[in-house]
Amino acid sequence: MWWEQAVIYQVYVRSFQDTNGDGVGDLPGVTQRLGHIAELGVQAVWLSPIYPSPNADFGYDVSDFRSVDPAFGTLEDLDALVSRAGQLGLKVLLDFVPCHTSIEHPWFREHPDYYVWADAPNNWRAAFGGSSWGRDERSGRYFLHSFFPEQADLNWRNPDVREQMTAAMRFWVDRGIDGFRLDALDRLMKDSALRDDPPATHPPELPGDPQDLELDHVHSRNAPDIGDALQAIRHAVGDVLLVGEVYLPIAEAVAYLAALDVVFNFEEIFAVRDAAKLRQAVDTGIRAGGQGWVLSNHDFSRLVTRAGPENARAVALLLLSLPGPVFMFQGDELGFGDAPMAGPEQDRNHRDPFRAPMVWDNDADHGGFSTAPPWLTPTHPPAAGAVQQAQDPTSVLTFTRRAMAVRSRLAANETSLLPSEPGTIALRRGDHVVAVNLTDVPAPAPAAAGTLVLEARPGDGADLSVIPAHGGWIAL
Ligand code: NOJ
Ligand code: CA
Repeated sequence: MWWEQAVIYQVYVRSFQDTNGDGVGDLPGVTQRLGHIAELGVQAVWLSPIYPSPNADFGYDVSDFRSVDPAFGTLEDLDALVSRAGQLGLKVLLDFVPCHTSIEHPWFREHPDYYVWADAPNNWRAAFGGSSWGRDERSGRYFLHSFFPEQADLNWRNPDVREQMTAAMRFWVDRGIDGFRLDALDRLMKDSALRDDPPATHPPELPGDPQDLELDHVHSRNAPDIGDALQAIRHAVGDVLLVGEVYLPIAEAVAYLAALDVVFNFEEIFAVRDAAKLRQAVDTGIRAGGQGWVLSNHDFSRLVTRAGPENARAVALLLLSLPGPVFMFQGDELGFGDAPMAGPEQDRNHRDPFRAPMVWDNDADHGGFSTAPPWLTPTHPPAAGAVQQAQDPTSVLTFTRRAMAVRSRLAANETSLLPSEPGTIALRRGDHVVAVNLTDVPAPAPAAAGTLVLEARPGDGADLSVIPAHGGWIAL
């Protein structure tokens, strides 16, 4: 399948390229910049949600699943994007949000039976904190919101909901979409009896809101009939790529692969500061299969900040050498770290620093992102511009392009993890050896034949008998 060793580039549309001078990125902007994406050597683009949205959660609160938010353009703009992508050999994925709708979606008034209701709240907590129940003033009843209060959870046990939602997905497949990133799937099915969650008795496997983590989410997510819902989706869309955002440890997320192709490996995302944990996540993930490796995304601290600037290239080199699809977030190729925002109103729900506008050209107004002040304004650009980095042999962009070229040669190779010193990770892919060191002292390298293929930083591969501090290489 085309996606098995693909690199998939995530575009956060609002922050990619503005073409009409309103400071907000749009679909014509994505189309205009597809050349940059294709030149990286990736196989596909995933667009963050493009549907009409009141933007309580920037597109993840959808008010119409079958059209395009006017701020981003029109359906015709999307068709043009898909067609240009096809010319460049790029597939296009949409982000689909099956778990909830905006409370401004007409369904919320016209079809209350599409949602999950209770006469009184149980103890469930929302992923972003607080109770997951909102009071509906008209009826006096409570609706479930696993995320923000403006995002009402759909009841996927209602056949009409399944029909509406799967028909919406088919609508996009018929328009030429090659797959979907499916949002928040672990929250799609909840206990039908709405039983309270018990208190947490063990430390969480994945980080979360402190209030939410006081409870063990045995009832508020991942109900046993999730498999039926996923099969309904699969049946409706055919064999397009389905990537699940399943916020569960690998051991539980793999069950979703019965209907999906790929699940994100969240353990990896949170392990990048610790070589032992990262090695463990890679090992478990490779054994499990179906893992999507993530450099960064729009929800968590960027790789450069999460791994630490000193280790970011080594971690990127490792992740880009792994079997299975890799997800690169816009700006990763330029070495974006988290970008502090100018004012508090510019840091909605603490994720804005990961969503800073692209920096295309240091010499252009607003980095070439827009002719107007951008919707988000970091205190300083998160990296040098793409134009400047393209001319610099030592830049992150140059490194990323090289790593992509090397990755294409690794694709068919078997993978095995090699024993290595603490703080280091080494693996073999066919005749290639990949070695990275996340400590500040050089470490002895596993046997490598001696031909350097790629170095994390210039000079890292000067002596292949060592893995340099905070560095790494791929050798033959
Ligand atoms: C996961 C998305 O990636 C995130 O941005 C969003 O806030 C939640 N799901 C709720 O849809
Ligand atoms: Ca715009």
